[in-house]
Amino acid sequence: MRPLAIRSIPRATDLEFARETIAPAAAKLAVEAVSKSFSGRHGSVQALDRVSLAVRPGEIVCLVGPSGCGKSTLLDIMAGLARPDAGRVLAEGRPVTGPGPDRLVMFQEAGLFPWLDALGNVMFGLRLRKDLDEAARREIAHAHLALVGLKGFERAFAHQLSGGMRQRVALARALAPDPALLLMDEPFSALDALTRERLYEDVQRIFATTGKTAILVTHNVREAVCLGDRVVVMAPRPGRIASEHAVGLPRPRDVNSVALAEIAATIAADLKSIALAEETPR
Ligand SMILES: Nc1ncnc2c1ncn2[C@@H]1O[C@H](COP(=O)(O)OP(=O)(O)O)[C@@H](O)[C@H]1O
Ligand SMILES: [Mg+2]
Repeated sequence: MRPLAIRSIPRATDLEFARETIAPAAAKLAVEAVSKSFSGRHGSVQALDRVSLAVRPGEIVCLVGPSGCGKSTLLDIMAGLARPDAGRVLAEGRPVTGPGPDRLVMFQEAGLFPWLDALGNVMFGLRLRKDLDEAARREIAHAHLALVGLKGFERAFAHQLSGGMRQRVALARALAPDPALLLMDEPFSALDALTRERLYEDVQRIFATTGKTAILVTHNVREAVCLGDRVVVMAPRPGRIASEHAVGLPRPRDVNSVALAEIAATIAADLKSIALAEETPR
């Protein structure tokens, strides 16, 4: 049987071209031909196969793709929490060899310390800023809780906050130390749809005011189009970049707008092709 052609997946030359438009030195983060495999009970899994990606300063890149296509592995390698088998990652031109305060990660679970209130949790994130005294940390923590819309909740503990509010605290904690790069692994997937949509407005405002560079992994295509300047579609076995979509919609974007839904439909079609190709025996 002939292998199924994946219609919207660009040829290697197209990807090569797309990559060349961002010089590695100008990139906030450059992933260069990163490969990673895991060996398990059922043999070895190629989680990433020569993945390359360059992120511009201030750019928001969203990674989407079916479960198991290597999104979390790629994010972990960018964070320095895992090492690639081959290839390398450069953060502002310097090779990433381990985790650092310049690259903070935010996960699906807020992971707040239950014995600290919201302010304490954000201040905990600031403990690495040895250049700041206690009063300065407190001031920055207050400002970031206000930024995420939690003014008045400084003294609340995790169990007193809704899921959406806990993720807002986690976002404030990640932003307060002013990392060069924010890495987010499905940060909103555990939230209900209404809470999520409210957060999209705030997150866009926060990205616009702070000018942060961020990489956000999501299962939700409309979320990716709403938040991303660029949406990178990944495919599994082996984990790789299948296509890229620049999103030119003006901001702030409404996740329920028709224009956004049209772009999301194109990306959803890519994902469908990937799923179909996966089902086709090779
Ligand atoms: N620590 C690990 N040990 C073994 N296999 C792993 C490990 N982490 C990830 N994998 C495998 O690598 C592939 C990619 O996983 P992951 O990066 O978590 O995908 P995603 O986040 O896109 O769902 C999957 O097949 C997964 O089972
Ligand atoms: Mg994952």
